Amino acid sequence: MIQAPRGTFDILPDSAAQRKVVEEQTEKILGAAGYRRIETPTFESTDLFARGVGEATDIVQKEMYSFDDGGGRSLTLRPEVTAPICRAYLEHGMHKLAQPVKLWYLSSCFRSESPQRGRYRQFWQVGAEAIGSSAPETDAELIVLLADLLEALGVKGTRLRLSSLGTPETRSAYREELKTFLRAHEAELADTVRGRIELNPLRAFDSDDRRTQAVMRDAPLLIDRLNNEDAEHFAQVRALLDDAGIAYELDPTLVRGLDYYTRTVWEFTSDELGAQSGVGGGGRYDGLIELLDGPPTPGVGWAAGIERMLLAASDLAAPAEPVDLFVALARPDGTRTAFELARDARRAGLQAQLELAGRSLKGQLKHADRIHARWVAIVGENGVATLRDMQSHEQRDTKLENVIPTILRGGTP
Ligand code: HAM
Repeated sequence: MIQAPRGTFDILPDSAAQRKVVEEQTEKILGAAGYRRIETPTFESTDLFARGVGEATDIVQKEMYSFDDGGGRSLTLRPEVTAPICRAYLEHGMHKLAQPVKLWYLSSCFRSESPQRGRYRQFWQVGAEAIGSSAPETDAELIVLLADLLEALGVKGTRLRLSSLGTPETRSAYREELKTFLRAHEAELADTVRGRIELNPLRAFDSDDRRTQAVMRDAPLLIDRLNNEDAEHFAQVRALLDDAGIAYELDPTLVRGLDYYTRTVWEFTSDELGAQSGVGGGGRYDGLIELLDGPPTPGVGWAAGIERMLLAASDLAAPAEPVDLFVALARPDGTRTAFELARDARRAGLQAQLELAGRSLKGQLKHADRIHARWVAIVGENGVATLRDMQSHEQRDTKLENVIPTILRGGTP
């Protein structure tokens, strides 16, 4: 039997109904703050991610699904959506619109990671990006919107970790300082950390090796090296979050897996999730548009994993889909009448289903009960149907043309 590829999954109807709730809540919460929906292609030039996400990241180094387009150009299934949105911002001249341009998305993403609970090779993100504003209010507003979404979906056990990475200059000076520190302690570091001192020294904070962790307790912290402007920006973001009553934990070692971040970064985790605890995260990326050959343009945003939100909101109930009418057949020769009645009912705005499996009348009524049909019309002879109220179990005969008006009147003949 052919199965879905490892790390991918089918979205079955019950799950699709839950996801619809996620989509509706995202639209409601972000729409209320003026964010408008955008969709970008599933694949992009590989170069977009190599430049945007960063050559040194795990994503670019080993997790991208890249392929030749047949004409010698390398394309990649998007591992994330921020770089594509910045590409679209530039391609469509969105700098001419009122700034910031506020966008939200619901998109599939692809990363070749080893699959486990909450970590897949195709997964879905909802996200928001505000491009063209460096105001700390933008950062704080986005964090509040993500907190609101997680709350609205009932995501349990959430915590917010917050930090600031400063500007690229501060960061590169700090990287040198950290490299010097790591080199001085090389003998005490895990092999993987030692191997990445030059390429990605910040990842040392992420290590789960005990000796490395002991070394890192004395390591210099970027947050102590921020210049005045960045420190002031971060202080304002924090003050706004404090005013909004959003609890957070300052985490100066917060490492995000993407290289484009500047200034504010954050991540919501959930205690319900185990190892893959990051439910949604984001940050400011004031240099990204320039990296993609655009003019200096600040930006900030977040993305949250739909599967992880649903895992951590285990009791998210999708509203039952109502069935107003089930059209049953008393005799097999009533098929055409039944077909027409179901169609007319739908045109009148009802959710109407038709018997399609050749069941006995008893079987049809049982089925109608199982799908929670509110009414059953049993099509009989000579233009007459029996209309059965599935709540009270009362039934009466009526002319076929009265079936729909009666249901629309709530059962009054
Ligand atoms: P990210 O932290 O890489 O950020 O991903 C955001 C969320 O996507 C994660 O918090 C997680 O819930 C979900 N996620 C990531 N990888 C997987 C996976 N393999 N399986 C299931 N879920 C996963 C970004 O992608 C940035 N673009 C966020 C951003 C937007 N920053 C600024 N704007």
